[in-house]
Amino acid sequence: MPESQVVTATAGKALEQKILSRSARVGIVGLGYVGLPLAVEFARAGFHVTGIDLSESKTQRVSAGDSYIGDISSATLAPLVQSGRLDATTDFAAVRELDTINICVPTPLRKTKDPDMSYIVSACEEMVKYLHPGTLVILESTTYPGTTEELLRPMLSKGGLEAGKDFFLCFSPERVDPGNPKYQTANIPKVVGGCTPACTEMGRLFYAQALQHVVPVSSTQVAEMVKLLENTFRMINIGLVNEIAMMCDRMGINVWEVIEAAATKPFGFMPFFPGPGLGGHCIPIDPFYLSWKTKQAGIEARFIELAGYINGQMPHFVVDKVQNALNDASKPVRGSRIHVMGVAYKRDIDDMRESPALDVMMLLERRGAVLTYSDPHVPKLNLEGLEIQASPEEAAVESDCVVIVTDHAAFDYRALVERAPLIVDTRNALKGVNSPKIVRL
Ligand SMILES: NC(=O)c1ccc[n+]([C@@H]2O[C@H](COP(=O)([O-])OP(=O)(O)OC[C@H]3O[C@@H](n4cnc5c(N)ncnc54)[C@H](O)[C@@H]3O)[C@@H](O)[C@H]2O)c1
Repeated sequence: MPESQVVTATAGKALEQKILSRSARVGIVGLGYVGLPLAVEFARAGFHVTGIDLSESKTQRVSAGDSYIGDISSATLAPLVQSGRLDATTDFAAVRELDTINICVPTPLRKTKDPDMSYIVSACEEMVKYLHPGTLVILESTTYPGTTEELLRPMLSKGGLEAGKDFFLCFSPERVDPGNPKYQTANIPKVVGGCTPACTEMGRLFYAQALQHVVPVSSTQVAEMVKLLENTFRMINIGLVNEIAMMCDRMGINVWEVIEAAATKPFGFMPFFPGPGLGGHCIPIDPFYLSWKTKQAGIEARFIELAGYINGQMPHFVVDKVQNALNDASKPVRGSRIHVMGVAYKRDIDDMRESPALDVMMLLERRGAVLTYSDPHVPKLNLEGLEIQASPEEAAVESDCVVIVTDHAAFDYRALVERAPLIVDTRNALKGVNSPKIVRL
């Protein structure tokens, strides 16, 4: 047997035993929407978990058992902290004690739509100082295909350890869907691919201790590409249905009714819904990781560019609809009081990242509207440097027009239809309600 495989086999046996006996010390770098739920699942499964985050306020809140993530209640977090199963620190020296490390740091795009790898790079620079033989490192941040091999592998080898020989290196895409009551970290199947078959197997074994279903794949590149296929599929289908919505609008056809009827086909069709634009940390961003990478290989990702363009038109389309609705009521946008209902990027969550509500509000403001908003999950927001406080839902009644941008379940839609003068509904929140004051997307 070659020497490298012998080393892996020895290190592997020890780690395998620790994982199976739940004595492996688990580390999660980045305690956000992805990292904190993952930390909780492993702590629940009986592991001692240490979260590492640069944000002192987050580590302090975790250490106090005080959750800041909607899907994790403090009632779930606090007992895990109190029993010593879960702790948090800003100090990367904790890596010395860790057997496994999942990296869950942000991967935004730069203004130029190039990947911003700075968070991954800075986490790796810190980790490598303390990395020791026999550790399992798994990148979970969404990124372009090749990141694990081309960026992580050399960075983590700087201390003299070699991936696939001295330590195990994998990529595993995160699929968390904030606010989804049915599918959460524990029951969403977890894809994992390693730099070597031994790395993949270690990753599989690790996740199998806390998650219900693990799907091993042959390489880190396959695992990276899985995530991009999933999110590109979604972004392009939303782009298609947004274009269909604009076509239906021109032809006077109710697109929502069309989709609902089409979805009765039991095979070969999957419903996607139009809306005011893409939001969140994934769908508007991830496909551009793919297009950035394929450009280097000389392939233009044309579907992605086109869907990106169409989805980017939606806030403008919504604002035009608002303007037309007001004009039909003999009112100009300038000086009209417009109340936006729901500003989070999707239903029943508090996440404002890339929210199309910000674009809709900014465009309305530029046309001279006087804006208010309500959102039970977002008490204040920042619009181009200006902080705006949420108004009570009742402010809708005082406005000239209400725009439903995010269809939170908590809104009282019945009262809204009774009392608001004019409503532009971008989410079909008022499905089945017939009133001349409702204008649908
Ligand atoms: N939020 C989602 O729904 C979702 C779903 C699937 C995949 N993802 C992907 O998962 C990754 C993480 O996303 P998120 O939503 O959890 O982000 P987040 O912003 O909620 O959390 C990231 C955390 O990492 C911390 N951090 C940043 N740099 C760090 C560093 N160098 N060292 C330690 N901590 C650091 C931040 O303080 C923050 O707490 C991203 O790549 C994202 O694309 C997110």
